Amino acid sequence: MSGMDPRKTIRLYYDHVVPSYAKTPLVLERGKGTRVWDAAGREYLDFFPGWAVSGIGHCHRRVSEAIKRQAERLIHVSNNYYHELQGVLAQEIVRHAFPSKVFFCNSGAEANEAAFKLARKLAHAEGRFEIISMERSFHGRTYAGISATGQPRFREGFEPTVPGFLSVPFNDLKALERAVGPKTCAVILEPIQGEGGVRVADPAYLTAVRRLCSDRRITLIFDEVQTGMGRTGKMFAFKHFGIEPDVMTLAKSLGGGFPIGAMVARKDIADTLQPGTHATTFGGSPLACAAALAVFEAIEKEKLLGQTVIAGAHLFKRLNELKRRSAIIREVRGMGLMAGVELTVDGKAVYEACLEKGLLINCTQGNVLRVMPPLVVRDKEIDRAISILEEAIASEESKHRKKEGSLVS
Ligand SMILES: Cc1ncc(COP(=O)(O)O)c(C=O)c1O
Repeated sequence: MSGMDPRKTIRLYYDHVVPSYAKTPLVLERGKGTRVWDAAGREYLDFFPGWAVSGIGHCHRRVSEAIKRQAERLIHVSNNYYHELQGVLAQEIVRHAFPSKVFFCNSGAEANEAAFKLARKLAHAEGRFEIISMERSFHGRTYAGISATGQPRFREGFEPTVPGFLSVPFNDLKALERAVGPKTCAVILEPIQGEGGVRVADPAYLTAVRRLCSDRRITLIFDEVQTGMGRTGKMFAFKHFGIEPDVMTLAKSLGGGFPIGAMVARKDIADTLQPGTHATTFGGSPLACAAALAVFEAIEKEKLLGQTVIAGAHLFKRLNELKRRSAIIREVRGMGLMAGVELTVDGKAVYEACLEKGLLINCTQGNVLRVMPPLVVRDKEIDRAISILEEAIASEESKHRKKEGSLVS
């Protein structure tokens, strides 16, 4: 513990840090597994760990040890030399993905940038450059990221954005077919939209999108920045759908908390990015690769995919029971340990009440509670979270009943 007064922590932040984040007034000091502790030593159950980054839990033993070990040997190597961990990690990703090669970077937005550059370069000689994304998607905050993201509010004030991007409704094959034209080079989608409100792709839709892209030689990019690394009960979400993308992007929980992103491209198109065409100074550092290798090791040795399926079934059972008891839950959706609870009312007060009672979750799209506990979560922790959520929802329901009552009287 640093011992700094939390009020001073917050004051220093606003004095010196660009205030681009909407913040919750919570100063966190320590984390372990499914728990985090604030500056006053108060414990929270973290069901949205680091915006889904600490996917296997905070400070997982294998990740912390791998980082410590590697930090004493070699932290960074420039990408014009080799170090042994990049190839080993790429091999591990490919073993779980599809025949491919990997470009390493540092974030989800950067992984998508690499995917867009590859897709455009691949189709450049034919004059194809248009990239189609989905409405309500989220692909990051760089210029190409906000250009691809199918939510105009992320672009407002930053125009002009990158030309050649357009969005169509998700899960709507006809809309995509209409949008594909002679200039289309890529389609990007999240198999489960996260930021967009935990919306799962329809399997028949994904199969048809795959066929359309293959027929028209369009690069199909799956953004698995949020769904990857076991979150849905399989290493990557596309594995639930019986098809493979041409390119997949990863970040968030790939490094178990340490920043690393990856663009995974089908083997026969990956060499499109030849020396000098794309680069990033920090991409695939020994430290980042060591952390990501420890994540794969944890998932495999601790059988976390099976654990996710079992814990996920428990989470969805409990959430669906809660829905039956609640007047303000419209829908429960998701897969594995990625759940969205859509309310009929704004979710901010429920989010805040959960925080007050020691449960961290997320609220997206105004009324969708996003619940994504670490893959190591236990049933009794899920039960505890559900009882906190139920209390929070009950108090919101009673507020709404009172409001309606006062409108009637
Ligand atoms: C699906 C998806 N893609 C891309 C990103 C951007 O990742 P980053 O914030 O690491 O750039 C996010 C972040 O939330 C995401 O959820």
